[in-house]
Amino acid sequence: MQEITWELFEKQVEACRLCSLCRQIRHKVPGQGDRNAPLMLIGEGPGQVEDEEGLAFVGPAGQLLTKMLEAIQLSREQVYICNVVKCRPPNNRVPTPEEAAACRIHLRMQTWLVKPRVIVLLGSTAAKNLLDPEIRITRDRGKWTERKGVWMMPTYHPSALLRDPDKKREAWEDMKSLRSKLQELGLYSFE
Ligand code: URA
Repeated sequence: MQEITWELFEKQVEACRLCSLCRQIRHKVPGQGDRNAPLMLIGEGPGQVEDEEGLAFVGPAGQLLTKMLEAIQLSREQVYICNVVKCRPPNNRVPTPEEAAACRIHLRMQTWLVKPRVIVLLGSTAAKNLLDPEIRITRDRGKWTERKGVWMMPTYHPSALLRDPDKKREAWEDMKSLRSKLQELGLYSFE
């Protein structure tokens, strides 16, 4: 059997034609950050700026995500960030269950390689795909689930916070809960 490596992951994402999303994109967006990070954040799919640059969360939602991380004393370089789908859905529509399922092979490989101890699911698409299809983000955000030693928490997607700033208070509660979890597990040193 072929060994799973970052090189293989990159090659497979680049060559992937498992769904039709790749027909309309400029760049694939595999994800980036510290490949040994104890914390992984998973969003939905690349937006316009991400598609142009080939990097995850670099547009307006990404800038807010950077601020949210910095608010709990984490930099982007200390975490790993990626999406459920690696190709931008047209007009930023939600990826279909078939597209998400096709892309799962890449996300699985990525989680296997990073081996995070904590995963934050940004928004309903990530939460439904990785945790439970019945999840409702307004009801279930901030709740922790442990699976095979990995702690997972859904929270609002930063784009939802840009659309509805009233959600920021709850998002801040989730970020504080994240910091407590990372502290409890001794994963980062905070002042
Ligand atoms: N929204 C996402 O879900 N992911 C990105 O990379 C950018 C915006």
